Amino acid sequence: VDTSYQRFTAAEAPALADFLLAGPWPHHSPSGLDRDLILKQVAGGVWDSAESRTFWILRGGQRVGLIRLFDLADAAEGGTPLFDLRISPGHRGQGLGGQALAWLTGYLFTEFPDLRRIEGTTRQDNRAMRRAFLSCGYAKEAHYRDAWPAEAGRVHDAVGYAILRRDWLHGTTTLPDWADERP
Ligand SMILES: CC(C)(COP(=O)(O)OP(=O)(O)OC[C@H]1O[C@@H](n2cnc3c(N)ncnc32)[C@H](O)[C@@H]1OP(=O)(O)O)[C@@H](O)C(=O)NCCC(=O)NCCS
Repeated sequence: VDTSYQRFTAAEAPALADFLLAGPWPHHSPSGLDRDLILKQVAGGVWDSAESRTFWILRGGQRVGLIRLFDLADAAEGGTPLFDLRISPGHRGQGLGGQALAWLTGYLFTEFPDLRRIEGTTRQDNRAMRRAFLSCGYAKEAHYRDAWPAEAGRVHDAVGYAILRRDWLHGTTTLPDWADERP
């Protein structure tokens, strides 16, 4: 079945609300999102503006996932954009998330020629996302203890990954110099 990526438009706000409210999104922070808020966000440009772009992941014409790219104004000036990637529950574990990460990485580096790096942060126990980062050439750069609030007052560690344009171009993965505090 073919997979494609299609730019979200504001006219699709109801479909976006359906998709987000269907969840569950076990590794996201509790969002308090409801339909009204999502529709207001769309009207306010949260999902598509100069700062952000959203894409549906389509498989055989069906909406099976969503990519939101944000902090794009920074990207245009050589800064670092961020993204949110969601595969709907019934389609996880079939390679779609890994493919989407590779696609969005190529998209950002191509669309923004001055962009040097792309960052992503996820919850420590999000094993699928962490595997996807590594397979796509991202390197772990950061570990934030107790940084990710969860339901019922619980908290998780967060982990940060990034890919450099030069690694993306050459198919390599350069690791940070973690021994740089040695005398
Ligand atoms: C995280 C997510 C995007 C990954 O997408 P996916 O389509 O489920 O993952 P894939 O099938 O592409 O698998 C990616 C890698 O994780 C591994 N994997 C998949 N499911 C896994 C699981 N439940 N536990 C451990 N590893 C898993 C795969 O084997 C693959 O590893 P490889 O690259 O070494 O082969 C998806 O599960 C999702 O949307 N989850 C809910 C939302 C979310 O957590 N988004 C991330 C926010 S940063």
